Amino acid sequence: MKGLRKRLAVAFISIASGTVILSVTFLVMATVYHYHLYRIQTPGMDKHTVSLDVHFGQAMIQSTTLAVIGAVTLAVFTSLYVSKRITKPLIQMRQAAEKMIQGDLTTRIPVRGDDELSDLAQALNHLTEELQKQEALRKNLTSDVAHELRTPLATLKSHMEALMDGVWEPTNERIRSCYEEIERLTCLVGDLEKLTALEAPGFKLNRKRENLQDIAEQAVKSAQASFLQKGVTLRFHAPDSVLAMVDRTRILQILANLLSNALKFTPKGGEVKVEVRNDGTDLLLIVQDNGIGIPPSEVPKVFERFYRVEKSRNRKLGGSGIGLTIVKKLTQAHGGDVEIESEEGKGTTVYVRIPKSNR
Ligand SMILES: Nc1ncnc2c1ncn2[C@@H]1O[C@H](COP(=O)(O)OP(=O)(O)OP(=O)(O)O)[C@@H](O)[C@H]1O
Ligand SMILES: [Mg+2]
Repeated sequence: MKGLRKRLAVAFISIASGTVILSVTFLVMATVYHYHLYRIQTPGMDKHTVSLDVHFGQAMIQSTTLAVIGAVTLAVFTSLYVSKRITKPLIQMRQAAEKMIQGDLTTRIPVRGDDELSDLAQALNHLTEELQKQEALRKNLTSDVAHELRTPLATLKSHMEALMDGVWEPTNERIRSCYEEIERLTCLVGDLEKLTALEAPGFKLNRKRENLQDIAEQAVKSAQASFLQKGVTLRFHAPDSVLAMVDRTRILQILANLLSNALKFTPKGGEVKVEVRNDGTDLLLIVQDNGIGIPPSEVPKVFERFYRVEKSRNRKLGGSGIGLTIVKKLTQAHGGDVEIESEEGKGTTVYVRIPKSNR
């Protein structure tokens, strides 16, 4: 029996014994006093009461002893029962915590009743679930990253080996190809950093009242040069003012990622349209291209981290498959959602829907 149970047992027994001793003392005192008064007030009583006195005394002693024994026994059993009821969930919680320390996050504490202890058990179960989720995320991320790094590193290694062994002449083109692989790795690390920041528990948006027309225009202007270079037309349409509580930098990031995809997957001579729309309590950011499109079965997967349709082709295009994951996370952080409509060979339209006010 450990500290808490011992203390509970001592408290119960003391309370029970104290109550019994006090009530029995008062009962005995009052009875003896009134018996004495009765004897004084009743003439001729003395002669016949010797044996009555003896029995009366014995009855007092017996009832007192029995009451004390009964009460203490009851207190012992009650205290054992109650303290066990109270300490059992606490012991279960301690055992669960010990298992969690050893890395077993599948443990759950049984939740019974509706009191403070069951609240605590529920909170602990919730904590374990969260830890389990974080752990799964961490494991997935590590294996995904390892997978993503392996291919470019292997390519670089084989190129370097060929150059060192003299199998390859170090031509400009070969050095450039190595440089591009390194650049891809650098981009990947940068994207991963952004994603990690978004997934961190302390991540917060800095929402202010902004005009979306301004933001979208800024995003379009920054992308314009690369569109011109590739020969893809970029159009922009927005009503005069669409006011909403948004984080300006994050909306710019969303649009930059969508525009980079639209440009990447639209061949020369194609067209990309950016549109801002009022839609009741929401605002809509639409980026539409007439590029290569996405096969219908792949559309739901493109938001997954590192997911690329036709991996080898996209690797050449320099993508790491994180752009849309970031878009989705940022939109959800604003309380909104992203949808993609796409037809292979015809083009893709991405709808970013964000509530105008903080809900
Ligand atoms: N506008 C689009 N047209 C056709 N396919 C697209 C379009 N946008 C996205 N995709 C497909 O979805 C995949 C995931 O897109 P995402 O932006 O997440 O990654 P990425 O562009 O390959 O790499 P990153 O954006 O990290 O540089 C792309 O690889 C591509 O196959
Ligand atoms: Mg992208």
